[in-house]
Amino acid sequence: MCEIESAIGMFDSGIGGLTVMQRVMERLPNEQLIYFGDTARFPYGDKSPEVVRCYTRENAKFLIQQGIKALVIACNTSSAFSFKRLQEEMSIPLVDVIGPGAALAATKTRTGHIAVIGTEGTISSGAYQHALAAICPGKIRVTAIACPLFAPLVEEGFSDHAATHLIAEEYLGFLRSTDVDTLLLGCTHYPMLYSAIKKVIADHVALVDSATACAEALAQTLHCHAISRTTAAIHPHRYFVSYNPSKFCTHASAFLSIPPQEVSLVAS
Ligand code: DGL
Repeated sequence: MCEIESAIGMFDSGIGGLTVMQRVMERLPNEQLIYFGDTARFPYGDKSPEVVRCYTRENAKFLIQQGIKALVIACNTSSAFSFKRLQEEMSIPLVDVIGPGAALAATKTRTGHIAVIGTEGTISSGAYQHALAAICPGKIRVTAIACPLFAPLVEEGFSDHAATHLIAEEYLGFLRSTDVDTLLLGCTHYPMLYSAIKKVIADHVALVDSATACAEALAQTLHCHAISRTTAAIHPHRYFVSYNPSKFCTHASAFLSIPPQEVSLVAS
């Protein structure tokens, strides 16, 4: 198979990266995608940087073994700790969610005050804070908030549960008394909490999720490397997880317009 016809790989710690996959499917309908959810080792958000880097490298290796032509890190925690190092090590193009998400948020703010929410790992890494500071030096204030319970709630299919609404108020209610006008969803699970988050923040606050920006960055990257497909792939998208494929399959229908027919188990 020539390189153009090869698939694009993407991975997350679990199901959240499917929010990115959906946007990529919409933006690049000709491409075949291979998704890996590391459900056996979820969550990544409370792991040390060294552990997350190790998992990230293993996930990348597994997808490269499938013969992919480009890789998307559809996990903010992995991106935060590993993007630069992995980019140096890889011979295929690599796209992450943090740079594109930060760039999009910077275009939305009028007050210059952006709130970023993510896992403990993503927030403590300072990756979004640094990315925003690099895009608009000295012009943007960032309030960074770790929301460690959000991703597990999504993983359990509790996106619209009463408990989720209470937790959203606990984490984010204080933003109503600030001049934050843009809220960046720095975790690929969080777009599933859109309505729970919207209810506890002021109406005028723009919610920015990095999935659309990431899909656009991927399209540009494929174009620059002259590896975009011009005709539709004949092979279907493929899905792999490291634990409990049936649970993944059940919850995936909430994320994807065309749910997976088959999810394969791989050892992590
Ligand atoms: N989806 C992952 C991210 O974007 C977070 C979930 C986790 O803690 O593993 O950071």
